[in-house]
Amino acid sequence: MSVWDDARLRLDGLPDGRGLNIAHEAVDRHVIRGHGDRLALRFLRRDGSVGDLSYRDLGRDSSRFANGLDALGICPGDVVATLLERVPELYVTAFGTLKARAVLCTLYAAFGPEPVRVRLAKGRVKVLVTTAAQYARKVEPVRRELPDLTSVIIIDGDPPPGTAGWQQLMSAASDRWSIPATSEDDPALIHFTSGTTGTPKAALHVHQAVVAHEATAVAVLALGPGDVFWCTADPGWVTGVSYGIVAPLVCGATGIVDEAGFEPERWYRILAEQRVSVWYTAPTAIRMLIKAGDTLPRRHDLRALRVAASVGEPLDAGAVLWGREALGQPFHDTWWQTETGAIMIANRPGEPIRPGAMGRPLAGVEAAVVTRHQDGEAVRIEPTEGSGELALRAGWPSMFRGYLGDDARYRAAFAGGFYLTGDLVRRDGDGWFWFVGRADDVIKSAGRLIGPIEVESVLLQHPAVAEAGVIGLPDPTVGEMLKAFVTLKDGIAGDAALGRDILAHARRRLGPATAPREVVFRPALPKTRSGKIMRRLLKARELGLPEGDLSTLEDEPAASSAPPEAKASS
Ligand code: PRX
Repeated sequence: MSVWDDARLRLDGLPDGRGLNIAHEAVDRHVIRGHGDRLALRFLRRDGSVGDLSYRDLGRDSSRFANGLDALGICPGDVVATLLERVPELYVTAFGTLKARAVLCTLYAAFGPEPVRVRLAKGRVKVLVTTAAQYARKVEPVRRELPDLTSVIIIDGDPPPGTAGWQQLMSAASDRWSIPATSEDDPALIHFTSGTTGTPKAALHVHQAVVAHEATAVAVLALGPGDVFWCTADPGWVTGVSYGIVAPLVCGATGIVDEAGFEPERWYRILAEQRVSVWYTAPTAIRMLIKAGDTLPRRHDLRALRVAASVGEPLDAGAVLWGREALGQPFHDTWWQTETGAIMIANRPGEPIRPGAMGRPLAGVEAAVVTRHQDGEAVRIEPTEGSGELALRAGWPSMFRGYLGDDARYRAAFAGGFYLTGDLVRRDGDGWFWFVGRADDVIKSAGRLIGPIEVESVLLQHPAVAEAGVIGLPDPTVGEMLKAFVTLKDGIAGDAALGRDILAHARRRLGPATAPREVVFRPALPKTRSGKIMRRLLKARELGLPEGDLSTLEDEPAASSAPPEAKASS
C-alpha cells in the first residue's frame, strides 16, 4: 500500500462529503474532534517571550480572516500573498486564505524590492498582507505597476493611504466560517522557484497536496499528536509551508516557530526548553552548529529529541554521524523540491540510515534515473544505468499542477509520463539514491534555490554593467556562494570602488540572501555563437575543471585587448 493510501484513511474530508480542504485537515477537524485546547503553534519571540495559539484560537482567527477576505470581495482562486517574517499573522492568513478557497503565496521577507515586484506581478496577487515598513520600501513605489493588487493589509501601526489595517479587518469579521465545498484539484498554494532561464516560476499546488503532507510527516518524520515539531525553514520557501505550517498541524502536533534568526546557543536552548521531539532542519544550519563545537549540545538536555531530519542541500555522511554523537540522533536526509510539494526520497526513521545517501523513494513514489534527449520542442527520456537525471512517475498528490502563466515550461518538465527533476543522481544496487549535482545552472546557497538570470538582470540595471554572468562556487558553510562576472560599458574602468558599488546595488535590489558576494570584471564573457553566456565554462575555469564541449563557443577576444581585471567582495 502506498503512503498516500495510508494517509487518506487518516484524513477526514470536509463534513457532508464536501471535498478536501487543507485548512480543515490542519485546523478545524481537530477542534471538531474535541482537541481545540491543544497547542497548535508556539511563537518564540526575539525578546524571549512566548506566544501560544491553540487549535481553537487558530480556527477562530483564520475564520475571521476568511470572512475579512470575503468582505474585500476575494473569490475562490484569487491569490493572497504574505510578505512577513515568522509572525502569527502569517499563519492566520495562511489558513484563512485556504478556508476562503483563495490561493496562498508566501513571499520571503528578506527579498529585496525587485524579487518582490516580479513575484507579485507574476503571481497576479490580489491581496498582500505585510508590515508598514515592508510596504513602504518594496511595494508602495511600484504599486502602479501591479494592477491586480487590489488590497494591502498592514499588520502593524497605522495603515498608510491605500491600505487597510489588520486589526480593523479582523475585529469587523465574524469568527464563524463554513468552508465552502472544495475539490481536491482546487488551487491552494503557489510557491515561487527558479530556473536557469526566464522569470521565476510560480509552481501551483492543489488541496490534494495535504494527502502528501500528512503521509510524509507520518512516514518520514514519524509525527503524531503530542509531538513538539520544529521545522527551521522560513515559511517564505516551500519547506516552511509544507512542513512549517501544514504538516505538523495535520498530524495534531505542536509546531515551534522561532521568530529570531540562527544562533547556535539559542537553537540548542529551543531544542532543550521546548522539548522538541521531531526536528527538521537543513545542512547549512547543521554545518554551522558543527562549527560552533560540541560543548554547547552537551550543556543542553536533548533527550526529548526522537527524530532529526534534513533537507534542501546535500548532507554529507560526516554531518549525519555528527548528529548521532552530539545530539543523540543521526540526521535523516530527505529529498524533494518545490515542484514535488512533499518529501519523495528519504532515510526513514526506524530503518538503517545510509549516511551520505538521500534515501529511497517512499512507497507510492516511482523514481527512475534517465537520460533526456531533446527532439526539437519535445523531450524524450531513456532509462540509464548508474548516474543520470532523477525522474518521478507523475501523479503523486502534491505534484505541482502548473507554472502560472508558463504552460510551455510546465509541459517541458514532463516526458513519457515522468516529471524531470533537473537533479543528477546515482542509484546504487540496493535502490538508494545519491545526489550528484544539478543538470542546469541554478544555484543553491544556504538552502535557497537561486536563478542566476534573476541576479544577472539586476546587475544589468547598474549603469556601468554591460553583461553579467553569475555562478555558484563551492563554499564550506552555505554550500554555494554567488560570484558575478561582469563586463563594463565602453570607456568605464573597473576598480574596487566600482565593484563595491555594484555589489551594494545588487544587495539593495535583491536582498542579502540572493545577492552575489563577489564581483570580478572581465574584458569579455564566454558566449555561445547565439550569444548566451556560458556559465558552465565560467565555473569550470574558476575551479580549474575540464572545459568540456566548446564547439558552440564564440571566438573570444585576444587577451592583449583586455582591460586589467579588478575584483571586489562584500
Ligand atoms: O537540487 C536539489 C536540492 O534542492 C533542490 C530543490 O530546491 P527547492 O525547490 O528550493 O526545494 C527545497 C526544499 C525541498 C533539488 O532539486 N535538494 C533538495 N534536497 C536535497 C537536495 N540536494 C541534495 N540532497 C538533498 N537531500
